[in-house]
Amino acid sequence: MHIVYLNGDYVPKSAAKISIYDRGLLFSDAVYEVISVIGGQLIDMERHVARLERSLGELSINAFADWAVVAQQLVADNDLGEGLIYLQVSRGVMEERDYRWPAPETPPTIFAFAQKRSLVENPMVTRGMRIITRPDLRWQRCDIKTTQLLYASLMKMEAEAAGVDDVWMTRDDLVTEGTSQNAHIISQDGVLISHQLDRRILPGVTRIEMLEQARSMGLAVEERAFSIDEAKQAAEAFISSSTLLIMPVVEIDGHPIGHGRPGEQTTKIRQSYLAVVQTPPPITN
Ligand code: PDD
Repeated sequence: MHIVYLNGDYVPKSAAKISIYDRGLLFSDAVYEVISVIGGQLIDMERHVARLERSLGELSINAFADWAVVAQQLVADNDLGEGLIYLQVSRGVMEERDYRWPAPETPPTIFAFAQKRSLVENPMVTRGMRIITRPDLRWQRCDIKTTQLLYASLMKMEAEAAGVDDVWMTRDDLVTEGTSQNAHIISQDGVLISHQLDRRILPGVTRIEMLEQARSMGLAVEERAFSIDEAKQAAEAFISSSTLLIMPVVEIDGHPIGHGRPGEQTTKIRQSYLAVVQTPPPITN
């Protein structure tokens, strides 16, 4: 993985340099996307572009690029079969440090890189994830995919210290989401429950396709928040994200979910999700 993208150019990674005055560094004044690549194909690129443009719009960052072309070029240049593309846009450079934004014509800083990673084959699929819960102390605009990831990073370290795989965060005793995944449960009577789209969670791209697959499997879906207790009583629990795809959760705060093994419906949802994303795109002339 040696070729990266920076402000219009594809360059070796050692040649990609940005200013210490970049607002992405100084204020986390930046948004990003992580797009999975499976079988050399970008997964759900159009939805990632739509979310990126929404994030940029919410923060009034003026940035335009042919996002899909950039991502595709990095897949090709780095010969990426499976892994991810990371794409970040900051408000740009401001040499006089100021909380207020620079003039709107300030050029944004746009960069992207590729990372090779095994996504489909993951040992966690068969053993399932173990989760602990913690208060969600992030800001109240979690619907914008900003690079302010320090709290999520702290929570990942807590999970590691506790010997588990991740943290589900809660506000008012209701589960919002994982540190970098959306959280879902399936109740004992077979209803898939997933937090409604609002400012408390990131509108996951994987979540959209996951819900489509679950509905086409005949599962009823309720988009609402659930409590930790409700999650502990659920038949199944799982997460969705671009890097883990659909991943079963088998334990929450030491309490086994269902039989303490990956749930049957979750496994089916993962399989049908994979079948959809692995279908080669139609040949167009
Ligand atoms: N994270 N919620 C949060 C807080 C996230 O950071 C992510 C993705 C998701 C899932 O969204 P999607 O299905 O669009 O990947 C939910 C990425 C993978 C990351 O930060 O690495």
